[in-house]
Amino acid sequence: MTQVRKAIIPVAGFGTRLLPISKAIPKEMVPVVDRPIIQHVVEEALAAGIQEIILVTRTGKAAIEDHFDTHFELEASLENSNKQAILDMVREIAPPELKVTCVRQAQARGLGHAVHCAAHLLSDGEPFAVLLPDVLVKPMPNDSRHDLTRMAAHWQASQAAQIMVEDVPAAEVDRYGIVDCGGSEPSCGESQPMCGVVEKPAVNEAPSRLSVIGRYLLPYRIMSLLADQPPGAGNEIQLTDAIARLMREGAGVEAYRMYGRSFDCGNLKGWNKANATLAREAGYLE
Ligand code: G1P
Repeated sequence: MTQVRKAIIPVAGFGTRLLPISKAIPKEMVPVVDRPIIQHVVEEALAAGIQEIILVTRTGKAAIEDHFDTHFELEASLENSNKQAILDMVREIAPPELKVTCVRQAQARGLGHAVHCAAHLLSDGEPFAVLLPDVLVKPMPNDSRHDLTRMAAHWQASQAAQIMVEDVPAAEVDRYGIVDCGGSEPSCGESQPMCGVVEKPAVNEAPSRLSVIGRYLLPYRIMSLLADQPPGAGNEIQLTDAIARLMREGAGVEAYRMYGRSFDCGNLKGWNKANATLAREAGYLE
């Protein structure tokens, strides 16, 4: 099975739930502890061996591209003043092996549409990852292995698409994609075949409490399905609906249950929790 080498990261959203912070800066550039949210996510991809990032972006988001570009004047100035440690830290943001490509999403037509905007940047048959930058997925404090890395190992072993999931309270199932594993559920760090997935179901129609948290390893076929995917929940073209069709075609799709923890930084409560928890662990707070 081909290794996943490219990750599509949709960054064209407005970030209305992070206002007023996100009024003049992209929500992906909002910091969590010591670096922008998007840097956490790109580091997660690099740790899983994914070195090519495709940002699906829009006007007003140039700061994200700049963050992963060389800043020649800054680096020259740090070099001239012998600030080697800071220079190294700046250069680590975009290590030489990282390749960042940007493509525009001209209209906000949903996650499935955003992902499809990157279709022409993949080779025919090439699998890919999708990472949603609203959510940070971090290993437990005593662990260094990322869930994306574990999930990539399952991909290699089973050759089935992988969808990362975690438990959510019943009251929150209508905010997420919810997976159906036919009654049994994978244990943490494990994958299990899925037989369905539904976007933002009502609680009494949800097939489980296992929610899609925004990390996917998908076959190229999804791009063809997205090309003619009609709008679904919220009148948006949903990635979830294309994954459901992929399953109906008989392709292997598995739910990978997160071993670490997630922080939904797309809203103020989750973003504050991420900062409080991770700042304490990093030694910035008493
Ligand atoms: C998207 C996906 C949904 C997933 C969620 C995770 O929804 O469509 O399946 O559970 O991300 O954050 P959105 O948050 O864009 O409405």
